[in-house]
Amino acid sequence: MLDATLSQLDREARARIAGAATPEELEAVRVEALGRKGTLAQISKQLGGLPAEERARVGKLLNAVKQALEEALQARKAQFEKEALAARLDSEWLDLSLPAPGPRPGSLHPVTQIQAEIEDLFTSLGFAVLDGPEVETEYHNFDALNTPPEHPARDMQDTFWLVDGHVLRTHTSPVQVRGMETLKPPLRMIAPGRVFRNEEVDASHEHTFYQLEGMMIDREVSVAHVIYFMKTLLKGIFRREVTVRLRPGYFPFVEPGFELDIHCLICGGAGCPVCKQGGWVELLPCGLVHPNVLRTSGIDPEEWNGFAFGLGLTRLAMMRYGIDDIRWFQSGDLRFLKQF
Ligand code: PHE
Repeated sequence: MLDATLSQLDREARARIAGAATPEELEAVRVEALGRKGTLAQISKQLGGLPAEERARVGKLLNAVKQALEEALQARKAQFEKEALAARLDSEWLDLSLPAPGPRPGSLHPVTQIQAEIEDLFTSLGFAVLDGPEVETEYHNFDALNTPPEHPARDMQDTFWLVDGHVLRTHTSPVQVRGMETLKPPLRMIAPGRVFRNEEVDASHEHTFYQLEGMMIDREVSVAHVIYFMKTLLKGIFRREVTVRLRPGYFPFVEPGFELDIHCLICGGAGCPVCKQGGWVELLPCGLVHPNVLRTSGIDPEEWNGFAFGLGLTRLAMMRYGIDDIRWFQSGDLRFLKQF
């Protein structure tokens, strides 16, 4: 009677051990068969009721079943451990013979790249590259550019004033003045740099952006010179013909003054946030240098004249790369920067 129960237990438990899919399932089988309240324990309780001879025989059989099941459990458990180890080694596998990845190379900011190209272009045309301070005197940023304190044009640019009366330069034009102070005419210079305006920031306005100033002073400089240099510049940058238009524009330090606009390259002229739906982008204010400006810097306007322009470098980069939001440039966002 107990023999049959034992051999049935043996059969069933082995089948379940072999079929256990997880260590937890295996443990459940162990508890049920071999645990303190398990099937084997129940059977061994009944041994006491057997005649002595029978008890010894069944007892032996019971021990044999118990030992066999323990071995089967152990074997299955070992198998689980081996599988787990193999999986871990698989997932943690490292090829130590691979060469280490070197430091990731950085790249130049898109504005820096365009600036370098324009510098190359203008130095090849005989222009010097000048630098000026970002914290400027009121004199260089305004007065010497024919914009005295009461001049209404001071309101054209929302200025960051410092408590000591200096300004964060609102344009690169003060470098024109510094150029005239240090170089004697005839002179040709460009001055790329960062400028600041107290602006409401949106897709096409930033409080911090880049301009590139240009100036040429010689005898008998005319508007034709301005147009020639500007066309050369735009062709060099865009490597194709760009549609431009010249409108009269007012700047106190040039006379006559112009706005050179280009057909918006982001939307092709259809209208987008960058061109404020107008299809044209103001890129290049320019004009002939006002006699007052020359005179203030000690250059005789009877003998010399010249042109000046103020290229929006940041805006140019937007056109060149099809970037529709100026805020990317100052964002420091690597997803943006890595593309250049
Ligand atoms: N400095 C002017 C500005 O930033 C641009 C300009 C430069 C206009 C040179 C004419 C000549 O608004």
